[in-house]
Amino acid sequence: MSERVPAAVAVVSSIIIVAYACATAPTTTTNPAPTRPGAGQRVPLTDSARRVRDSLNSARRDSASAMILRSIAGRETQPAESVFKNIKMFKGVPAGRLVNIMNMGFGRSLGVSCGFCHVPGKWDLDDKEEKKTARLMFEMVGTINRDYMSKVPNDRGAAPVVNCFTCHRGNAHPIGPEGQGPPPGMRPPGAPPGSGSGED
Ligand code: HEC
Ligand code: HEC
Repeated sequence: MSERVPAAVAVVSSIIIVAYACATAPTTTTNPAPTRPGAGQRVPLTDSARRVRDSLNSARRDSASAMILRSIAGRETQPAESVFKNIKMFKGVPAGRLVNIMNMGFGRSLGVSCGFCHVPGKWDLDDKEEKKTARLMFEMVGTINRDYMSKVPNDRGAAPVVNCFTCHRGNAHPIGPEGQGPPPGMRPPGAPPGSGSGED
């Protein structure tokens, strides 16, 4: 019985590799073209494939962040807009902190690497839809916290806040197969199967 274990491990690992490859492969012309980049990532992942993807993305983010931090060495505490070229939302935030927000706040919350929102190296460009959506999301989070969460009674001292992770939980798409979605039976009334849990 026990000699079967390595074979089982090998099968599982190849499934992980295939699942990971499918989730990250550039879309080929034989597939119906996704309407925008990122749409091709809507592949249900196993827990292990997700872990592989997350650790690769985390390593990529750490190395990009380290590279940027080296390039701005000595200016980390200066306001982001005086160090970087195209700062709209993080005016006044120390430049070094912006890099950490990119890594741990945005990247980790969405389970993606920097390339999801940027053409790596051309960090100031607004050419990716995902970067523009991130700005919209940031505004949305600001509104939720300022206009709603601040009024929620709580007994924990500081007002509760919503952030990117609250909804995304490591998924670029909190809704649909990639994300967990609400558990079965927790869908909004009338929502079709498939609109909630990834288990549908
Ligand atoms: C979810 C989308 C998203 C991800 C992921 C992301 N960024 Fe950003 N990034 C943005 C947005 C939006 C801005 C613009 C911020 C502003 O307007 O103040 C930005 C701005 C920047 C800037 C400033 C560029 C300039 O000159 O104006 C740098 C540098 C940067 N990001 C690096 C990174 C790095 C490194 C990573 C990965 C660790 C990363 N980003 C991941 C959305 C993202
Ligand atoms: C209230 C819940 C919620 C919060 C908070 C939230 N998001 Fe989202 N986000 C969503 C939903 C829902 C979608 C659309 C999901 C989909 O495409 O499956 C989305 C989509 C996105 C997308 C587009 C993905 C794509 O492929 O185009 C980006 C980028 C994004 N969010 C970034 C962020 C960032 C950055 C934050 C924090 C500043 C954030 N979100 C906070 C719910 C949220």
